[in-house]
This record gives sequence, structure tokens and C-alpha cells, in this order.
Amino acid sequence: MARVQARVEAALERFLPAAGIAPQRLHDAMRYAVLGGGKRIRPLLAFAAGEASVGEPVSADPARLEIAACAVECVHAYSLVHDDLPCMDDDVLRRGKPACHVEFDEATALLVGDSLQSLAFQLLAEHRLSDDPAVQVEMVKILAAACGSRGMAGGQAIDLASVGQPLTVPELEYMHIHKTGALIRASVALGARCSNVLAPGQLARLDHYAKCVGLAFQVVDDVLDQESSTATLGKTIGKDAANNKPTYVSALGLARARALAEELREEAQAALSELHGGARRLAELADFIVLRKF
Ligand code: IPE
Ligand code: IPE
Ligand code: MG
Ligand code: MG
Ligand code: MG
Repeated sequence: MARVQARVEAALERFLPAAGIAPQRLHDAMRYAVLGGGKRIRPLLAFAAGEASVGEPVSADPARLEIAACAVECVHAYSLVHDDLPCMDDDVLRRGKPACHVEFDEATALLVGDSLQSLAFQLLAEHRLSDDPAVQVEMVKILAAACGSRGMAGGQAIDLASVGQPLTVPELEYMHIHKTGALIRASVALGARCSNVLAPGQLARLDHYAKCVGLAFQVVDDVLDQESSTATLGKTIGKDAANNKPTYVSALGLARARALAEELREEAQAALSELHGGARRLAELADFIVLRKF
């Protein structure tokens, strides 16, 4: 994990506009929002998916995985900046620092999100990610679908429209697989497509794995919001209840939410069983996503 995290940090540092370049405040804020924080789970998933193969360890070129990983992380960082705005979750702490709109201002935070989303697609368009140009176009479409109105942004819209409403478990699942699951699924899909070695059946199994860990990720996020501490998470805990958000914890209670995450971990591991040794890191990441304390 540390190796991929360091590699992605260095790559993001290179791809983000330098702080001294005009408009300086916007570039400062973009760098503030992206660099030096976060677990980098989505980049880790992209790298791990690039290593998944049947039998022989034929991995994707790390230089390609790095681009896919940075693109996904830019979209993720943008989603966090916007998620914290007063018009959304109104959070002041993110990754152990003042949220972007607190450190800078709301208008800058809005533009940081816009600019990071553009940067993500610029990265996917500017670098060769697959020997097959059609696969590369497919990768652009995968990320576009994952962050749009039928992916992350749509999930966020449902989240905001659900304040104060006791959602059923299927409704919660629908919200979570969009607001959080879609980008996690895209991380795995992009990493896998950097490698050129997976057959359609194997891609489908990876996608099922990604759906399970994507949902599990947000279930655990709901649990940690109640169970962890602000110091450990680097974001203010108890905000879901304070904001009157329906979550897996409000619907099922802590114990059943944790049990569901555990079931999803098992289902994710089962989806990897035919990918043999190449999927080892994906299996370890499923464990991390469900057992993590931050
Ligand atoms: C937090 O994501 C927001 C959700 C989608 C639940 P992460 O927990 O991956 O945040 P960082 O990147 O580690 O800060
Ligand atoms: C965030 O969900 C999902 C996205 C940012 C797309 P949350 O609102 O639960 O994330 P945190 O808890 O603020 O990190
Ligand atoms: Mg939110
Ligand atoms: Mg939030
Ligand atoms: Mg949360």
C-alpha cells in the first residue's frame, strides 16, 4: 500500500498545476484538496486490478495504471470538496485539515471541484492507456458514467433529497452504490483495462467484486461516522445523525450494519476465487475496506 500511495502522491504532485501558476489561489486550493492526505483506496484498487490475471502474473504497465489511478483520485477529491460545502454536508474538517471552502472560500472550492474533474479527463485523454484505442475510449466513458448523474453525482442528489427520510434498505443500497460505489467500481474497471490480459468473464467477476467492496466501503463509512473519533478519521464524526441523514446505521443499527459489511467482504472474495494469485492484492484490499478503523 505504501509503495502505491507514494507513487500516486508523486504523480499527482506532477500532474497538478504548480502552485505559482496563475490563477494562483485556485491552483493552491487544488493542491490543498488533493495532496498529502487520504487513504488513496481508489488508486490502490486500480493498481491491484491491473495486477489481476489468470495464472501467470501478467501485470499492466505501472505507468498506465498511474494515470488511471490519478484520474480517479482527482474525481474523488473533487467529490469530497463539494460534499463538504455548506450547501451539501456542511463539514469543516477533511483529511485532518480545514475543509477546502474553510481554508479558501466557497467559490474557490466550487472551482476546485470543476477543475479537478476536468483534469481527470485530460489525464485519460492525453496519455496512452491501452494498445487498443477503442479500449481507451471505453475507459473515458467508464469514468464519465461513474461520476455523472447516473453515478456519483446522482447518488449525491439522492443523498441530499433523503435528509430526514427513513429509507428502506434497498433504497439505501441504491443511494450508496451510486454516491460511492460507482467510482470504486470505475477504479477497478480502469485498472483492469490497463492490462489487456483479462477475458470478458474475468472482467465481469472483477466488476462483481468492485460492486461488493463499493457498497461495503460506504456501509463502513456510515459505521465509522458513529463509532470512530474525529482524530482518527480526520473528519467530524456524528455528522450523519446531526444532519439527519439516513444511513445503514440508522436503518439497521451498528451490529447489523457491520454484519452486512462482513457479508459483502465474503461475496467480494468469492468473486475473486477464479482469478487465482493475481487477485491477491484485491483480496487484501477487500479486507482493508471492511476491517479498517479510519
Ligand atoms: C470518503 O472517502 C467519502 C466516501 C466516499 C465515503 P474516503 O474514506 O476514501 O476518503 P479519503 O480519500 O481516504 O480521505
Ligand atoms: C460521500 O459520502 C460520498 C461522496 C463524496 C461522493 P459521505 O458524505 O458519507 O462522505 P464523508 O463521510 O463526508 O467523507
Ligand atoms: Mg455526503
Ligand atoms: Mg459528507
Ligand atoms: Mg460519511
